[in-house]
Amino acid sequence: MELHYLCFGFQMEMKPAMRRLWIIPLISLVWAQDGKALFQANCASCHAINRRVVGPALKGVHERWGGDEAELTKFIHNSQAYINGNFKYSAYAKKLYEEYNKAVMTAFTALSDAEIKAILDYIKAESEAAAAASAPAGGATGGDAGAAAGGGGSDISPILWVLVLALGAIAVALLVATMALSRLLRPESAPQAVAEPSAWEKFQKVITSRRFVGIVALIALVWLTNATIKKARSVGLHQGYQPVQPIAFSHKTHAGEYKIACQYCHVGVEKGKSATIPSTNICMNCHNYIQEGSRYGTKEIAKILESWEKGKPIEWVRIHNLPDYVYFSHAQHVKVGGIACQTCHGPVEEMEEVYQYSDLSMGWCINCHRQTKVDLTANPYYARLHEQLKEKEVTVEKIGGLECSKCHY
Ligand code: HEC
Ligand code: HEC
Ligand code: HEC
Ligand code: HEC
Ligand code: HEC
Ligand code: HEC
Repeated sequence: MELHYLCFGFQMEMKPAMRRLWIIPLISLVWAQDGKALFQANCASCHAINRRVVGPALKGVHERWGGDEAELTKFIHNSQAYINGNFKYSAYAKKLYEEYNKAVMTAFTALSDAEIKAILDYIKAESEAAAAASAPAGGATGGDAGAAAGGGGSDISPILWVLVLALGAIAVALLVATMALSRLLRPESAPQAVAEPSAWEKFQKVITSRRFVGIVALIALVWLTNATIKKARSVGLHQGYQPVQPIAFSHKTHAGEYKIACQYCHVGVEKGKSATIPSTNICMNCHNYIQEGSRYGTKEIAKILESWEKGKPIEWVRIHNLPDYVYFSHAQHVKVGGIACQTCHGPVEEMEEVYQYSDLSMGWCINCHRQTKVDLTANPYYARLHEQLKEKEVTVEKIGGLECSKCHY
């Protein structure tokens, strides 16, 4: 892309000494135990500070654990060992585990104590910030009010920032070029000739005029901006993505021919944020008995049995994946909104192998929120809202479905 060449050119221009300076941010990036980044990478799929996701809201977790970071660290290293062991807060952790329907928190044996400390510091700082933000409001709905307020510090993809900066640089470069050009073309060779200028001279005058150069530069800028935005928009979008899976599992066979309900395998879909991919024991409910298939004989099903016997989860390749900074809940859409899986995922029951049907872009979410009407009779809260709005039909937009903080952490 042209942008690439520009950046490359820029780098070539730099003095060798300057070039070496790049290393500084790199080193500090590696050096600093960035609690926020660690949290985003390891915990954000299940936790937020102010609201329940798969796991509890982590706001004020220090108080719940008597400020004992040593115990918290043990828990985070291996929550199951902690729950089943005999530690200071094992009873509390066990109760919490049961409260969360025995959802198992991932073990983080690979994280060092220092890294966990950095994460805990980040959680503490965010908790305090959230408390400060919601304190003056003093709302009885503390948690929720905090969630809305504390959503700040939105984490927009770094790629976008780089592109925006690059765009700024291009704009400046073009401006300088335009200025230099027009200075060159300023009428030093003042009108000496009295003779009527020829057509060619007129033409030359027009194309070298400041206005013309300006317009060309502007068009170039608009075009570049457009190309860059398009590129930026498509970063991270993977419509049609269809990776090869470790087992030749077919939705067409299971959900289509045998009409197994989606929820039978995707158990989380009405309960929480994530639909979840079934664990081996769900497959074993049937494949304990069905050990030979009509297509692959024992070959593919043997992989399930192996996973079961060795206690090694099947490594399914994830297909749908929103960026970390987007909040999306299946329960909200499937259970509350009553939307069919196929609206978003296409005819899965006809797919031999699943592929990503929708582009999962922000525009896709927003368009549907603009168009879809909310079932107001289903929820007394909406019924009240309905009264206030005095409208016959209420779209998701009207209940706040276009607010940035609803979808962005
Ligand atoms: C796969 C989902 C998942 C991931 C990833 C995850 N957690 Fe959890 N976490 C849970 C669940 C569920 C609970 C509730 C207890 C239970 O079920 O074991 C929990 C509980 C906790 C608790 C206790 C909360 C309380 O209110 O006392 C802390 C602290 C915690 N997690 C920290 C972390 C940290 C730090 C990370 C990242 C390094 C992390 N978790 C990653 C699911 C997860
Ligand atoms: C017998 C269990 C089972 C049933 C029933 C089932 N699925 Fe799945 N589903 C899976 C497994 C296993 C995967 C992961 C492997 C794959 O992608 O094919 C998966 C993957 C998916 C994915 C892609 C997940 C990703 O990685 O992003 C979607 C979407 C999906 N299923 C939707 C559905 C829908 C909709 C139905 C009902 C029409 C359904 N599934 C029925 C087991 C099942
Ligand atoms: C509710 C019962 C049920 C569940 C649960 C189930 N299956 Fe199946 N599966 C079947 C049936 C029935 C067949 C068709 C067998 C045939 O081809 O004759 C089948 C066929 C298959 C085949 C094709 C075998 C072949 O050679 O054609 C594979 C692979 C498979 N299942 C994998 C899985 C995986 C992986 C899971 C868990 C995610 C799973 N199944 C869960 C009932 C089930
Ligand atoms: C409103 C649109 C929408 C509907 C309706 C919907 N999904 Fe999804 N689904 C998504 C999005 C968006 C993702 C990606 C989520 C992410 O990356 O966090 C996803 C991801 C998934 C995944 C991958 C695992 C996960 O949870 O991230 C599975 C499996 C899945 N959906 C199954 C289903 C099933 C089964 C239904 C119906 C019962 C359903 N979905 C209904 C939009 C939808
Ligand atoms: C097919 C239509 C559809 C698509 C696509 C869709 N949504 Fe929704 N969404 C809804 C409906 C309907 C509701 C309202 C459910 C209710 O509360 O009754 C909703 C509600 C929400 C809410 C709660 C809004 C509020 O004010 O409480 C959030 C957050 C949300 N959606 C996020 C997303 C995100 C993120 C995406 C894209 C990845 C998305 N949605 C895509 C239909 C859709
Ligand atoms: C209904 C859900 C929803 C709402 C409301 C929403 N967004 Fe998004 N946003 C998304 C999704 C999903 C993505 C990621 C998909 C993508 O990369 O396009 C995203 C991506 C972004 C990005 C990354 C740029 C990009 O295109 O990749 C920015 C910046 C952003 N949103 C800003 C905002 C702002 C500002 C608002 C409020 C005016 C807002 N969003 C409201 C769902 C939403």
